[in-house]
Amino acid sequence: MNIVAPTPETIRQAADLLRVGELVALPTETVYGLGADALDSSAVARIFAAKGRPADHPVIVHLPDAEHLPRWASAVPKDAIALARAFWPGPLTLILKRDPSVPDAVTGGQDTIGLRVPDHPVALALLRAFDSGIAAPSANRFGRISPTTALHVAEELGDKVAMVLDGGPCEVGIESTILDLSRDTPVLLRPGRISREEIAAVIGRHPASPQGQDAPRVSGSLAAHYAPATPLVLVAGDHIVAQALAFVARGERVAVLAHTAIDPHSDAVLWRHAKATPADFAHDLYAALRELDALHVARILVESPPAEDAWGAVTDRLARAATGSGADSI
Ligand code: TXA
Ligand code: MG
Repeated sequence: MNIVAPTPETIRQAADLLRVGELVALPTETVYGLGADALDSSAVARIFAAKGRPADHPVIVHLPDAEHLPRWASAVPKDAIALARAFWPGPLTLILKRDPSVPDAVTGGQDTIGLRVPDHPVALALLRAFDSGIAAPSANRFGRISPTTALHVAEELGDKVAMVLDGGPCEVGIESTILDLSRDTPVLLRPGRISREEIAAVIGRHPASPQGQDAPRVSGSLAAHYAPATPLVLVAGDHIVAQALAFVARGERVAVLAHTAIDPHSDAVLWRHAKATPADFAHDLYAALRELDALHVARILVESPPAEDAWGAVTDRLARAATGSGADSI
């Protein structure tokens, strides 16, 4: 296993591996990333090969700090500066017009680039040692559940990655908020921990939602994503016990992830209690889905989160997990 504890020595080794075009998995506050030198097209191509991801999908470039922005973006609008001041390092990715020197492999051939400064001491130490941009999508195989521990990365990618830096479990647990500032109006491409309201409080207007073909390619915005292999369905809290028992009556074993419903203590229902705040729920979500998937039950039932703004990012990931698992919502 190539999981290593972060020390000044292993951070230096990781930066050297990036310099010779190798892949290094790194912890961030959101999920683990699969990193490569963002200026090295063939290293970036190796990310796509390792993930099995279509080559025309752009990847986020991680920077040591906001001072690096002008190297990567041809224009840095004042909203970007204000948001970077307010939220970086942190779970917000900004889409800006790219600098012409950025390789097409990073941008998927688009004229924009996704940039963020992650809020994790190990990621920041590596970025400072490397002193340039690290391209890093989530360190999972394409369409699957994003990793929130070093072990998850090793399970997903094994020896396809030269080194996995172990930074412990990720604090946020779901991917960064993505905000497109490359057009006339700011557009929220992916919900995350940083909410629409928090963004509006900084830039003085609410970001719009993506409209049909206007939306650039974002694999996290595919309807089927973040998915377990087991069929997953979302069920309202007041129906979930009856629904689970109905599947049991048909001879199925099921797993349930619920944050308000009460365990009926049936042998054929593997019950997992989820935390009841959006931040705690998000923190545990991907690890919980991985565990439930590994039980090899017939179905995973997840209690639908409340239809409230604060739950938006969690609801978004669960809806995509349900679609990707091949099951429909009930
Ligand atoms: O929290 C995160 O953002 C994590 C950690 C590792 O930083 N990264 C992550 O990367 O979620 P990934 O590649 O799994 O998702 C990044 C999303 C992708 O859906 C990608 O298409 C989109 O960002 N993206 C990157 N550059 C873009 C661009 N120029 N225009 C539109 N979308 C872009
Ligand atoms: Mg991803």
